[in-house]
Formats: sequence, structure tokens, C-alpha cells
Amino acid sequence: MAKNEKVRGIILAGGLGTRLQPLTEVTNKHLLPVYNQPMIYYPIQTLVSAGIRDILIVTGGNDAGDFLRLLGNGKQFGLKHINYTYQKGEGGIAEALSLAEHFSHGGKVIVILGDNIIEKGIGKSVEAFRKQGKGARVLLKEVEDPERFGVAEIRGDRLVGIEEKPKKPKSRYIVTGIYMYNAQVFDIIRTLKPSGRGELEITDVNNAYIEEGEMQYDLLEGWWSDAGTFDSLLRANQLVAEGAKKR
Ligand code: DAU
Repeated sequence: MAKNEKVRGIILAGGLGTRLQPLTEVTNKHLLPVYNQPMIYYPIQTLVSAGIRDILIVTGGNDAGDFLRLLGNGKQFGLKHINYTYQKGEGGIAEALSLAEHFSHGGKVIVILGDNIIEKGIGKSVEAFRKQGKGARVLLKEVEDPERFGVAEIRGDRLVGIEEKPKKPKSRYIVTGIYMYNAQVFDIIRTLKPSGRGELEITDVNNAYIEEGEMQYDLLEGWWSDAGTFDSLLRANQLVAEGAKKR
């Protein structure tokens, strides 16, 4: 792929937010507040600050229309285009991503989970990925509670495997919900079978790239949090608030 070929952004904001009930009875999880902004603003800002101007939001549930009311045509974020699509049910992160195939136009994509909030930018990694000939790239972060996430197994400086929510994590490095893929990702998703929890797992996608020797990684700078449980949502609020007060 030519260096400057367009890279598109995809925000996955589907799922039913069951772990945050009753907060998610009347609105979508990704529209809940994180300090002074709706949760979905953060992944949008992460993509925009990395130079991404075309975004697809994959959402779901009963309140999908609220995204349109809140975000409109995306001009207030500096976006050229904002697109929306709808995932029925919660068949997994990889299933949500499969809905973006048409939008990708056969090019590279940066995928971010709608509940992932970070302190700093991902510009350097996106730049490295633009230059990377093919394959995929993930961002890892060292955390205290790796068993809640996809955990990286690292040998030397090579990422050799990822385990989804292992009881005995092989490291404290987890795969954050920021993924970079070439167009092959959609072929990989077509080969997946639902996991024990009935979902098409993004970890299976990433392991397929690892097996082919086509996965690169970077360590994410600054703090990172998801926001899908009461505790992580509270933590995300506190981290954002502290950051805003320091500025
Ligand atoms: O946050 C990083 C972690 O996200 C990774 O370390 C894990 O490997 C990955 O599986 C994922 O773990 P979770 O189990 O925490 O993901 P969760 O089900 O909470 O979904 C996270 C976001 O993904 C959610 O806010 C919206 C999107 N999603 C999820 C599902 C299940 C969808 O768009 N559709 C879905 O069907």
C-alpha cells in the first residue's frame, strides 16, 4: 500500500452494556458521561488527533438514534465524514468489526473500542502502521488486573500469543482496545467460530496475525482505562477529571 493511502477509523460501540445496568436501561453505554463529555467523544478525539478524518461508528441496542442526535455529521470534531451502522445483539467485537468491511474500501483501518479512554495520543503508532507494509499492530499496556483482559505473552521482545481473560495471566501486559489492521482482517473474521461466551473474539483475530508472523505492537504511553464496569467507569472519570484539572 502506498504510504499516504487513506486510513479509516472504526469505533465499536455496540453490545448491550449489561454490566452497567440499570445505567444502560435508557441510553447506550457509550453515551454515559465520563467527567465532562459523553464516553464516545474520547475515542473520536483519539482518532482525530491521530489524523483520521473518516470514521464509522458501529452501534447497537435500543438507543442507536441518540448517536445521530449527539454527533450529527461530526463536523464539530473536525471529521470529514461520520458514518453509522448497526449491530444486532452482541455477537462480539470481531462481529461488530465485520460490519465495517464495506466502509474500509479495501484499505487499512484503525479500530478503537468505544469504551477505551487514553491520556495521550496514538499518532506515532498510526504513523508506524501507515508505513508498515502489511499485517496488524496492537497497543499494549501494563496493568494491575490483567485477568480482566486479553493478555499478551511476550518472549524477548516478540508478541507470541494472546489469551482472553486467563485465570493465570502470563504477563501484566494487556491488549488495549486499539487495533490496526490491513484488509485481510475481514477474511480472518469469516473463519472464526463463536467462543465459549458466544462471541466472535478479537483475540482470535489477533492470534491469527501472530501465527502468520504479521503482528507488530507498541506500548501505549500515558494512562489507559476501559469503562465497561462500575469500577472502571469510575476510574475513567477520575483519571479524566484529574487530567483536566492539571491543565
Ligand atoms: O478493553 C480492552 C479489552 O476489550 C481487551 O483486552 C479484550 O481482549 C477484548 O476482548 C475486550 O474485552 P471486554 O470483554 O472488556 O470487551 P467488552 O465486551 O466490554 O466490549 C468492549 C467494547 O467493544 C464495547 O464497549 C463495545 C464493543 N463491542 C463489544 C461487543 C461484545 C461491540 O461493539 N459489539 C459487541 O458485540
